[in-house]
Amino acid sequence: MSQSLTGKEKARLVVLISGGGSNLQSFIDACENKFLNAEIAAVISNKANVKGLERAANANIPNIVIDHRGFDSREEFDEELATLIESFNPHLVILAGFMRILTADFVARFLGKLINIHPSLLPAYPGLHTHQRAIDAGDNEAGATVHFVTPELDGGPSVLQARVPIKSNDSAEILASRVLTYEHQIYPQVAQWFCQGRLIMKEGIAILDGEFLGENGIIFGTTSEQK
Ligand code: GAR
Repeated sequence: MSQSLTGKEKARLVVLISGGGSNLQSFIDACENKFLNAEIAAVISNKANVKGLERAANANIPNIVIDHRGFDSREEFDEELATLIESFNPHLVILAGFMRILTADFVARFLGKLINIHPSLLPAYPGLHTHQRAIDAGDNEAGATVHFVTPELDGGPSVLQARVPIKSNDSAEILASRVLTYEHQIYPQVAQWFCQGRLIMKEGIAILDGEFLGENGIIFGTTSEQK
């Protein structure tokens, strides 16, 4: 993996996807409009024929499919995936709707340089079906969290969290699309901080501009102040 960033050089990103890639698109746009001083060196998907691959191709970004079903074990898939990622020598690896549980060995290889977006207000609702679970629980808000990845599923330190209201007749689909529009704002923002050398993870804690971030990270959205 590349050395840490100082903010002056152009960062190399590798983005991992499994599907539609709307978050990937927000990174493509952020690189194009220079919000991010970065280039996407590769997009890697564990599924063929997904829209995210089309988005990458349209932006002339190398895009590669590595199908997990072709491997005998999670360890073998992760080993191949890690080797492929390292061949691009990225500063930051971005999980953007990458729907695979990663082995501890994989995470260790990219520790501090691996971020994820999860569609809930972590630590609430790790795992799947987050929006339905929030609705079923009678919550009045939902959201998404960008966090550093550690071996614990959806358990790494949060950096930035978007909160949105849950409305009375919301279905999981409607809520998901409301949350997604915020995902597209908070995810490139976190990458920008990282690429500027302002955001690091140290001893399992996220630190922005020298300040430790709390359990939820910074809150962005309707219920709290924006930073
Ligand atoms: C996003 O909502 C993202 O938060 C979620 O998958 C969706 C991908 O959408 N990720 C997870 O659930 C990871 N556990 P996209 O392909 O349009 O970016």
